[in-house]
Amino acid sequence: MTDAIFDHPRVAAVYDALDPDRSDLDAYAAMVTEFGARRVLDIGCGTGTFATMLAVRGIEVVGVDPAGASLAVARAKPSADAVTWVHGTADDVLPLQVDLAVMTANVAQVFLGRGRWSHVLEVAHAALVPGGRLVFESRDPERRAWERWTKDATRQIVDVPHEGLVEDWVEVTDVRDNLVTFSSPTTFHRDGVRIESTSTLVFRSRAELTASLEAAGFVVDEVRDAPDRPGAEFVFVARKDAADPDAAVRLLRRRDAAALFADLDPWGLVAIGAPRDEYTPEVDALLELGRPVTPDEVQATFTRLAQPVSDVDAFGLADAFNAVLARWPA
Ligand SMILES: C[S@@+](CC[C@H](N)C(=O)[O-])C[C@H]1O[C@@H](n2cnc3c(N)ncnc32)[C@H](O)[C@@H]1O
Repeated sequence: MTDAIFDHPRVAAVYDALDPDRSDLDAYAAMVTEFGARRVLDIGCGTGTFATMLAVRGIEVVGVDPAGASLAVARAKPSADAVTWVHGTADDVLPLQVDLAVMTANVAQVFLGRGRWSHVLEVAHAALVPGGRLVFESRDPERRAWERWTKDATRQIVDVPHEGLVEDWVEVTDVRDNLVTFSSPTTFHRDGVRIESTSTLVFRSRAELTASLEAAGFVVDEVRDAPDRPGAEFVFVARKDAADPDAAVRLLRRRDAAALFADLDPWGLVAIGAPRDEYTPEVDALLELGRPVTPDEVQATFTRLAQPVSDVDAFGLADAFNAVLARWPA
């Protein structure tokens, strides 16, 4: 479920006005240039400030977010037509191949459980070309930012065009392990309407973030400082290793037909000579045939093993499988 601050139409409509200073995005825009990225995936794009900023510069951008109200704001922005907007989670963008994936404004902290975080990293990995980068920020837990999230310290009243005075603040309601829960009500003075919102963010250590990236097949090139918030954030620059032989095995284990179609790299399986039991039963069953397969055979095998795939995926899987087989050591 998405938080009201992002998914309530009236609150999403004033999101940009309540947080107008987006100089935090400058460092990300600079990295698009630094890494020569031409295609960018913006995970948790929200109201689309960064995605449209890049589109103006001629960058191909896919912006994904589960908050429909934020996406509606994004779609109404100038240059929005040049962006591909996806209403959903990162899963919904595959198959895709981009040079850079980003999560700006601490989106990385919304993925609470280890499983959800690992999964989004695996999807980002699958969406990147070999050598492509994932860049995101996450607040340093040692700085205990939440201790300053009090009503007194954060309350503001902003005069928003067409809305009049809008008031909001952030107030922590619970801190448990590395999870911080806070409420952030928004009040519209014009008619007195107050919209409640509750959010929980996870604060992961630098070591934990590094380990999770490595487990997903990334190489951590650097952990930078956010220039506008020195010392407060980790800005991770992670790279999909161009020669990551484990990528194909990870995808096969996940039985994710779309990701497999997007990312299966034929030499990967051969290069590692991975044991057969590392593969999913579907691929194992196809290997039993010991010969190139047709899309119909792929579909029949996957259906028999209760993993039905679409016609398009069956074609892609047959292609990928046959490419692997052609290079399989005798
Ligand atoms: C703090 S906002 C940041 C928005 C935007 N990146 C920016 O810089 O303004 C966090 C965003 O993460 C989105 N989000 C929440 N859960 C998500 C998920 N599972 N996948 C992708 N985005 C998600 C929210 O809807 C929200 O738009």
